[in-house]
Amino acid sequence: PKTRKEYMDEILRLKKEKNAVLLAHYYQEADIQDLADYVGDSLGLSRKAAETDADIIVFAGVHFMAETAKIINPEKKVILPDLNAGCSLADSAQPGPFKEFVDAHPDHIVVTYINCSAEIKAMSDIICTSSNAVDIINSIPKDQKIICAPDRNLGEYLIHQTGRDMVLWDGACMVHEAFAMDKILDLHKENPKAKFIAHPESTQNILRISSFVGSTEKLLNFVQEDDSEEFIVATEAGILHEMQKRVPHKKLIPAPAKEDNTCSCSECHYMKMNTLQKLYNCLRDESPSVDVPVEIRKKALIPLERMLELSK
Ligand code: 13P
Ligand code: SF4
Repeated sequence: PKTRKEYMDEILRLKKEKNAVLLAHYYQEADIQDLADYVGDSLGLSRKAAETDADIIVFAGVHFMAETAKIINPEKKVILPDLNAGCSLADSAQPGPFKEFVDAHPDHIVVTYINCSAEIKAMSDIICTSSNAVDIINSIPKDQKIICAPDRNLGEYLIHQTGRDMVLWDGACMVHEAFAMDKILDLHKENPKAKFIAHPESTQNILRISSFVGSTEKLLNFVQEDDSEEFIVATEAGILHEMQKRVPHKKLIPAPAKEDNTCSCSECHYMKMNTLQKLYNCLRDESPSVDVPVEIRKKALIPLERMLELSK
């Protein structure tokens, strides 16, 4: 293939021929979202990974997401277009220091955001995503002490929402920490009717000025259900593709990032490492695949299954 159309046709052909399912996150580039069998947030994607009867799972997302699909489906081949598609938040929790942190708080239950490696999941009691985190925390008995990791912004938001006192790991997402308050306020002056909505990985000053805070899926539902005709959206800009499809008549503005010369909006360069060409190559070669050592996989499955059970 040479052209965009040829790549897209070939990807569809290979997907069918190999009985592969293409799962894509809302932050993927528009063409990849359009090719996917399912586009979703972290929770939706892990649910789909648990349900699929395909032989191959092609994960158009970042490494921890493909790894999660592999933990749930050890017998299936899970492939990722670019193995370097990582995550600054997942990188912020490395196994050695994380073990020391957990050992230093022996009477705490470990609630871990899905944006972490399999090793970190293996040290956790229950996984959550931004869609179900409040419910997961509320399901824990009131007198139980909690560690919440690795995102301190989501952690602070959850402390505020649930009233629970939690010990937080000091990690963050580089995209959601980069929103520029001054540019957002200017944008709001230019668009006074626009509602400002944000993902809970954003910093507290951003969340404080938000009319609504939610996961990517919840932000999508909000713009559909809310009466407003204009929104400023503080999460990775890839979500605007699906959002605009759902509300074609509404005005959607991506929240601007600090010091960004290439783009006025916030993009996750890890998510954008997956391209049509790499997706085609990966389906053709059934590589690179994501594998998890069996001992880690078995331990990591337990807190993931707890999450899937609690969010049915
Ligand atoms: P959700 O898709 O769960 O909202 O998470 C956003 C994210 O940062 C994924 O990397
Ligand atoms: Fe990680 Fe942030 Fe990129 Fe999501 S947007 S993959 S949390 S770096």
